[in-house]
Amino acid sequence: LRRSMINSSDKIIPKGDSSIFQHAAEGWKINSSLVMEIRKNILQFLDAERDVSVVKSNFKPGDVIHYVLDRRRTLNVSQDLHSLLPEVSPMKNRRFKTCAVVGNSGILLKSSCGKEIDSHDFVIRCNLAPVVEFAADVGTKSDFITMNPSVVQRAFGGFRNESDREKFVRRLSMLNDSVLWIPAFMVKGGEKHVEWVNALILKNKLKVRTAYPSLRLIHAVRGYWLTNKVHIKRPSTGLLMYTLATRFCDEIHLYGFWPFPKDLHGKPVKYHYYDDLKYRYFSNASPHRMPLEFKTLYVLHNRGALKLTTGKCI
Ligand code: CTP
Repeated sequence: LRRSMINSSDKIIPKGDSSIFQHAAEGWKINSSLVMEIRKNILQFLDAERDVSVVKSNFKPGDVIHYVLDRRRTLNVSQDLHSLLPEVSPMKNRRFKTCAVVGNSGILLKSSCGKEIDSHDFVIRCNLAPVVEFAADVGTKSDFITMNPSVVQRAFGGFRNESDREKFVRRLSMLNDSVLWIPAFMVKGGEKHVEWVNALILKNKLKVRTAYPSLRLIHAVRGYWLTNKVHIKRPSTGLLMYTLATRFCDEIHLYGFWPFPKDLHGKPVKYHYYDDLKYRYFSNASPHRMPLEFKTLYVLHNRGALKLTTGKCI
C-alpha cells in the first residue's frame, strides 16, 4: 500500500493561516531513500522526461488538439508551433545533483538567497519572472523557465507596442539556450499570445529551447497527488515543477513558496516579489489551492524529501 504523504494526524490549517509553519532550516537533512521512493511513485503516473514536452513527431501542421482542461474546444497546430516543437525531450538524459525550484512569492525579497539559488546545478523558475533587478534575492541563473500564455498580457502589455515586444525579446535573449516551457494546450484563450511568442522567437532567431507540456501531464500530476490524499483541483506551476524535478534531481531546494499574505512575524508579504498582483487563491475564482500545496511541501521538507527555504539565506 502506498503511504500517504500527509498523515491523518497532520492538522488541516485554516485558509491563509501561516502560523503553524516554523522556519525549520537548521538540522535539515536529505532522506535519499524517501527521495527515491517518491521518484519511483511519481514514475507510475508520469515520466517527466517524456511528459515535459510534446515532440515534433507527435504532430504535423494542421493537426487538431483538444484543450486538456476544456476538451470541447480545439486548437490547430500551426507551422510556427510545429517548427518550434523539440525533436527530442529537452530533458532527455539530464540528471543533476542539486536543483532549485523558484516560486514567485514576495517572501524572497530581502532574503539574500540569490547566490545560494545560483549555486544549484539546475535552476527552474516560473512565469518568466524578472531576475536582474532582484538578483541579490533571487539570483539570475535560469536553466528552465515556465511561461503561462497570460504573461504576455500581464507583463508585456499584450505586445501592443514595439517596446513591449522588444522588452520580451530582450528577456528571452538572456535565457540563451535554456528551456522555455509554455503550457499552450491547457485552456482556450491564450492561443493568440502563444502564436505571437512563437513568431517572435522565430523572427529573432532566439536560442531558447521551447517546450510544450504533454497533453497528459496535468492529469497525471493531479493523479499522483490525489493518490497521496492531496486533493488539488489544478496543481500550481510551482508544484508541477517540483513534481517534474523529482525525475532529474537528487536534491530539490524550493525558494519563493509562501502563499500567505503575512510572514511569521506578521509582516506583509507580497504575492509576487516583482509586481503588485494581489492574492487570488482565497476566492473560488482561483483554481489553485496553494496553502494546501504548501502544507504538503512542508511535510515533505520535515521528512527530508526536499528543502523548503522560507527565511533568509545568510
Ligand atoms: N507561489 C507561492 N506563493 C506565492 C506565489 C507563488 O508558493 N505567494 C508558488 C506557486 O507554486 C506558484 C509558483 O510559485 O505556482 C509560481 O508563481 P506564479 O507565477 O505566481 O504562479 P501563478 O500564475 O499564480 O499560478 P500558476 O502559474 O500556477 O497558474
